[in-house]
Amino acid sequence: MNKTVRFGVSLNEELLNKFDNFITERAYPNRSEAIRDLIRENLVKKEWAKGKEVAGAITLVYDHHRRDLVNKLTDIQHDFHDLIVSSQHIHLDEDNCLEIIAVKGSPKKIEQLAHKMRSTKGVKHGSLTPATTGKGLV
Ligand code: NI
Repeated sequence: MNKTVRFGVSLNEELLNKFDNFITERAYPNRSEAIRDLIRENLVKKEWAKGKEVAGAITLVYDHHRRDLVNKLTDIQHDFHDLIVSSQHIHLDEDNCLEIIAVKGSPKKIEQLAHKMRSTKGVKHGSLTPATTGKGLV
């Protein structure tokens, strides 16, 4: 089991005030939890930069009436089927679809997939949320 270690941090007062405001805005219960989260966030960024296996979510909003677009997006997903863990389609209203695609694999390939989808004509919104498989984190 991992041991918890306490350590002191010296910080400029102004910077500490800003950090405390950040903690309040993000609703962290205490400074320790905020610091742990910032460290993990950085480690996840490093996983993406180093090309390790990562996980994430691609979110798309697009026009429901453009059948050619729906087919194109499906074709792209089939080309990258080894990355896609699952996808959820939500009919937002009469005209708009929301799709959330869970992905796992190489960061470069995930970015390629996300870029291909979001740059398809008719896609109103596309974003990639980088996450982690959680394997290297505590
Ligand atoms: Ni729909």
